[in-house]
Amino acid sequence: MSNKLPVGILGATGIVGQRFIQMLEHHPWFEVAWLAASDRSEGRPYGEAARWRLRTAIPERVASMTIAPAKPEGAPKIIFAALDASIARELEPHFAEAGCAVVSNSSALRMQSDVPLVIPEVNSDHIPLIETQAWRRKSKGFAVTNPNCSAIGLVLALAPMHRHFELESVMAVTMQAVSGAGYPGVASLDILGNVIPYIKNEEEKMEEETQKLLGTLNGGSIVPGPFAMSAQCNRVAVEDGHTESVAVRFKKKAKAEEIIASWNELSAEPQRLRLPSAPEKPVVYLTAPDRPQPRFDIDLGGGMTTAVGRLRPCNVLDWKFTILSHNTIRGAAGAALLNAELLKAKGYLG
Ligand SMILES: NC(=O)c1ccc[n+]([C@@H]2O[C@H](COP(=O)([O-])OP(=O)(O)OC[C@H]3O[C@@H](n4cnc5c(N)ncnc54)[C@H](OP(=O)(O)O)[C@@H]3O)[C@@H](O)[C@H]2O)c1
Repeated sequence: MSNKLPVGILGATGIVGQRFIQMLEHHPWFEVAWLAASDRSEGRPYGEAARWRLRTAIPERVASMTIAPAKPEGAPKIIFAALDASIARELEPHFAEAGCAVVSNSSALRMQSDVPLVIPEVNSDHIPLIETQAWRRKSKGFAVTNPNCSAIGLVLALAPMHRHFELESVMAVTMQAVSGAGYPGVASLDILGNVIPYIKNEEEKMEEETQKLLGTLNGGSIVPGPFAMSAQCNRVAVEDGHTESVAVRFKKKAKAEEIIASWNELSAEPQRLRLPSAPEKPVVYLTAPDRPQPRFDIDLGGGMTTAVGRLRPCNVLDWKFTILSHNTIRGAAGAALLNAELLKAKGYLG
């Protein structure tokens, strides 16, 4: 018998749910024991209900599992949630109230004042916010979230700069992959040969989440990061990988080599604790003048490393650069998995 911790996946048939299954297949600590999706999928074998969209095959054991109702009864105590925000807003609290650790991808609870929004390399010190949750007091259940897929790569690049030089302003323009819209997502006739300069609520999420992530825990609440932030989000015809053009102004003077060193040297609790999904390098600076590019750089660190390049002076702010991050790995399933590994290492998963 396996001595791994049983985990469940809510929204298991979707794009992020599939990534969870792929990333959990050989996980040393966790084992998929329960899958749930909508009532369209409930009661069917996973292999039949899911329109599998990854290049690796569906693990055989998982393909034959029956999709359970999306209810806490009978679910394991650790739940990875990959639901649309509107559904997550209703379902995730039920699971937390029933005593589950809900490790969520959706935006439903991210900005709730008692819910930690965490990137383990950036703000693992926000995790104790869990103790302020009513669910925790009632049933030991709780919820922890990871950021939006475009905020996560950006914040991994901003965090070491903020620590060394203090951000004053951030401008980010995204070029986001179609897999970020789930499956079937954006219609092919809308996106092929096209750029769509609008992703509903995305700019607001990037702006507020970046400030929460780079904020400080003060007693029982987070004081947002003290910098101005503006995001513009575009959908482009790329399969996986969000690229972002970023410009920043600092409070302190910075040299290019100091900024690059701050990225390449980033190493935090996940690396010290050797968490199974932690990349050796959370951020890597690529020196070639035409990188990063999704086609070549998206799988760095198994999709968990943010690639940065093209650092140069900005005539309006101080510095500008380009980042690339895998939206369904570092931006979704991998982010939640790393959060769960950190929670286990800190003793929150029993
Ligand atoms: N894709 C990304 O890059 C990305 C990145 C970061 C965060 N996220 C967030 O992660 C969440 C999931 O995204 P996705 O891209 O995986 O979406 P998706 O491909 O559309 O998958 C949605 C999942 O939710 C299930 N579902 C729908 N209605 C439900 C209901 N009433 N009750 C229970 N389950 C229900 C679906 O099941 P059926 O198959 O049965 O319909 C499916 O498993 C979203 O909140 C999204 O914003 C996505």
